[in-house]
Amino acid sequence: MTAKIITVFNQKGGVGKTTTTCQLAGTLGYRGYDVLVADIDPQETTSSWLSNASEQLPFPGTLWTGHKYAHGGGVARELGKLSDKYDLIIVDCAPSVDNSSTWSSLLVSDLAIIPTKLSPADTTALPAALELAKKAQDECGRVYPVRVLATAFRKTRADEKMMLEQITTNSRYPMFKVLPIQLGDRVAFTRSMLMGATAHNMPKPGEAAAELDILADEVCALLGIPASKE
Ligand SMILES: Nc1ncnc2c1ncn2[C@@H]1O[C@H](COP(=O)(O)OP(=O)(O)O)[C@@H](O)[C@H]1O
Ligand SMILES: [Mg+2]
Repeated sequence: MTAKIITVFNQKGGVGKTTTTCQLAGTLGYRGYDVLVADIDPQETTSSWLSNASEQLPFPGTLWTGHKYAHGGGVARELGKLSDKYDLIIVDCAPSVDNSSTWSSLLVSDLAIIPTKLSPADTTALPAALELAKKAQDECGRVYPVRVLATAFRKTRADEKMMLEQITTNSRYPMFKVLPIQLGDRVAFTRSMLMGATAHNMPKPGEAAAELDILADEVCALLGIPASKE
């Protein structure tokens, strides 16, 4: 098998990259896919998340910590080697767009997801992230989907998602779109880190699990793979 690679990136910190990576990876793992979770952020938050898993509740994916391969295109090379062993590789990046690991991962990606919170301070970073994705596509000569994901979303402020859509549509890269689903501002998303799990395992997964299921469906459709592994 040759893994489909999803890069989760944004130059902003604290926008939900790690939350999105771990929740999405676990959700796809529960659907039967062999998932590698690649942590290329030196802060290693994703590594901490997965290391909180237990024997009773193992994380349905394998961790790879790869920030030491930052130089000379090392991340792309290593991901290439690993891609034979997995169906999906989900890469959590450091909060910087001029980071060589992020660039390297984008060069071998099949999908890029840019999580963002909806405050203006967070969304101003978006054009730089879109630009980086476009540059990487020009460099590798492949056009793959790039999608913005609204995180910590509140229904009472739905206008903010419309503003996000406008920023993306009015950018130089209108082909990069905002995902129809968003991740709400939910305790289940943050607390599941303590168990090294996904929101599905929380006492009241409710809408958090439903949002993850829709996100996973949208991601599978963008990658052109079945919603679960047959
Ligand atoms: N959908 C969400 N709902 C509630 N809190 C969130 C959500 N996504 C992220 N957070 C919180 O925001 C903070 C930053 O999230 P994190 O995923 O670590 O971002 P990043 O990896 O981009 O730095 C954390 O405290 C996290 O729990
Ligand atoms: Mg992070």
